[in-house]
Amino acid sequence: MANLANVAVRNLRIDLGANTVIDDLDLDVRAGEFVVLLGPSGCGKSTLLHSIAGLIDVADGSIEIGGEDMTWADPKDRGVALVFQSYALYPTMNVERNLSFALRINGTPKDEIERRVKRAADMLQLGPLLTRKPSQLSGGQRQRVAIGRALVREADVFLFDEPLSNLDAKLRTELRRELKQLHQQLGATMIYVTHDQVEAMTLATRMAVMKGGVIQQFGTPAEVYARPDNLFVATFLGTPPMNLLRGALEAGDGKLWFRTPHLAVDVTHYAFRGAPDFGRACVLGVRPEDVRAAGAVRAGHSASGGRLTLIEPMGNHRVLWLDYHGVQIASIDQDKAPLVSGTAVPFSLDGAHVSLFDEETGARL
Ligand SMILES: Nc1ncnc2c1ncn2[C@@H]1O[C@H](COP(=O)(O)OP(=O)(O)OP(=O)(O)O)[C@@H](O)[C@H]1O
Ligand SMILES: [Mg+2]
Repeated sequence: MANLANVAVRNLRIDLGANTVIDDLDLDVRAGEFVVLLGPSGCGKSTLLHSIAGLIDVADGSIEIGGEDMTWADPKDRGVALVFQSYALYPTMNVERNLSFALRINGTPKDEIERRVKRAADMLQLGPLLTRKPSQLSGGQRQRVAIGRALVREADVFLFDEPLSNLDAKLRTELRRELKQLHQQLGATMIYVTHDQVEAMTLATRMAVMKGGVIQQFGTPAEVYARPDNLFVATFLGTPPMNLLRGALEAGDGKLWFRTPHLAVDVTHYAFRGAPDFGRACVLGVRPEDVRAAGAVRAGHSASGGRLTLIEPMGNHRVLWLDYHGVQIASIDQDKAPLVSGTAVPFSLDGAHVSLFDEETGARL
């Protein structure tokens, strides 16, 4: 079995060419965790992952794995195994040879190789495919072999760089579930890079949302989704993303209100991080599933009206798009009642399920 190793990245700086891609970054991955690095293209996910693997030199800071300083250790001495997006299998070798290649190279005894290959093949359902060449495998099977090659190394930490992004949607969700089960069976530490928020939400024990080389928020998927630390995280996650309304905070009737010219939301019980700053421009964020529209409007919630501009059927629900004084508001609607685009519809939202941000800094209030 793999040993359990934590990963501690401290004050990391990475320069690529003339660019400082990552500066003063800290990341703590506990032993046995499944941490996902999520962010848009170019935000530095792969750079961070590859520096942990030892494929990129760091300009400053340190990387500890399993309590040992590995900042300058050789990749093969770090106890990590990396799986890339491109499978990079050896085309002339069959699956069994592909799986065992690294072990044969480093002189692992034959019976030990057999044991590890059998174990990986069982876990990944590769048993019946061991004698096939990569060209005789589907994309999903090839990626399983690539994962198997990492497994046989019995590493302490598994690193994945967008391993599913070359697969079609159905295969991707299947392999995603297999990876989660694999993590549950192995209990090994995993760090997984993706720009797919569904992968991040479903796989992560904790996720780090990155932008411009900076971790914007690090927490459980539920925390990050429900209480985004800033406007970037709020709008990066969720399909459709969080709705945003501009307004200001006001005290009145012994309560605290978020007010726009057409709507007042009771935020008396909002968990402010600091003392609320009245009169300062702020933004209210509300998830589409917390906006009730048409027949689902709730009594007692803050209510207003918009014009229904679009209905998107999604099978088990539909998304209603409302024009609210020039702002698009999305509402996830579980009702089946017929609605007509272009008509006026009421909507309501619950002040207990909103986020507030400073308009200027984007920081959560
Ligand atoms: N050799 C290089 N020289 C200079 N800049 C580089 C080099 N390689 C990458 N970069 C820059 O570093 C930044 C981070 O790249 P990185 O590959 O880590 O992004 P990523 O988050 O993995 O993106 P993607 O989702 O597209 O894979 C990008 O802005 C990229 O342009
Ligand atoms: Mg990348």
